[in-house]
Amino acid sequence: MTDDLQSDGLLAGRVAIITGAGRGIGFAVAERFAALGASLVLVDDGSGIDGRDPEKGLIEQQREALIAKGADGARLAALEIDIASPEAAARAVDLAITQFGAVDIVVNNAAILRDAMIFKGDPADFDRVLQVNLSAAYYLAHAATPKMREQAKAGRPGGRLINMVSSAAFYGNFGVSAYASAKAGLLGLTRVQALELERAGITANAIMPFAATRVTESLPPVTDLLKEYRARALQLPAQPVAVACAWLASDLGAGISGQLIGVRGGDVFLMSQPRPIAHAIAQDQPWDEQGLASAAATNFSEHYFAIQSDLDAFNTDPIIQG
Ligand SMILES: NC(=O)c1ccc[n+]([C@@H]2O[C@H](COP(=O)([O-])OP(=O)(O)OC[C@H]3O[C@@H](n4cnc5c(N)ncnc54)[C@H](O)[C@@H]3O)[C@@H](O)[C@H]2O)c1
Repeated sequence: MTDDLQSDGLLAGRVAIITGAGRGIGFAVAERFAALGASLVLVDDGSGIDGRDPEKGLIEQQREALIAKGADGARLAALEIDIASPEAAARAVDLAITQFGAVDIVVNNAAILRDAMIFKGDPADFDRVLQVNLSAAYYLAHAATPKMREQAKAGRPGGRLINMVSSAAFYGNFGVSAYASAKAGLLGLTRVQALELERAGITANAIMPFAATRVTESLPPVTDLLKEYRARALQLPAQPVAVACAWLASDLGAGISGQLIGVRGGDVFLMSQPRPIAHAIAQDQPWDEQGLASAAATNFSEHYFAIQSDLDAFNTDPIIQG
């Protein structure tokens, strides 16, 4: 058990599963969690951005890299597996329990992109993106939460689910129908997790990150908007995202659940969530299409949301920490 290990970090004695820990944000989260004393199951299959051509041995190399940076190897397990199946999720949870005695934190971070316009894309690609970016998070929560609930009953509270989403889900963008659908679904899953697990003291939150990773590098600078967005995004380190994850994962995050939190460099913000904001009509007498149209013209017009992508929405210079 990690509880036996001597450490006074914020996550000392906690056991976390981090998916997509081999690169980018997932690796930064792993580095931060390890530095704060957590025991980690690092899951990654080395996938290319599109989920193809995996780089074999990546996660074991990254485990070694963490050890070289001072992490305790006894608290790091590497699992090279495609996490997008119920069996793989069960293996990750089993590994956490057999090696470290518990599962406290799950960071669903692994994701792939297979961009295509709706009228050109392949439905099989859509399905695969949903499986990796959404279903995998369900499988892992399904495998981990029975154990987390048992732990809570036995006096080990503090279960945490953290789901990495994307601004693309809440604004949309060109070509990202699969990715945006999966990430929007992941917020829905987060809300259900928060409700269902509240009584066990398990929290579930979504983080909407912005960070320079291979994904940011791969953004095609084909328009001025994309060029500017890419240049700004390339300045953003993943480390603040990792710190925000550790905040939510630690005791400091107790009681914060069902939230959508954006992290963009030195800027951390709470996002709104869809709630009724205007009523066209609220009456118990039948209304027809014409009546609805004129009530909507009066009461909705000023509230309609612009069709604007996330690139348009986050078009300001980021705050870069010194
Ligand atoms: N970088 C950003 O600015 C940004 C913006 C919005 C959302 N996100 C989200 O943050 C998370 C991390 O993104 P990133 O930019 O670090 O990406 P990344 O591609 O650098 O890292 C993702 C990791 O997940 C792994 N992975 C992919 N499919 C897997 C599978 N089936 N099984 C196991 N591992 C798998 C990959 O091998 C890779 O190491 C993702 O959920 C992404 O959607 C990132």
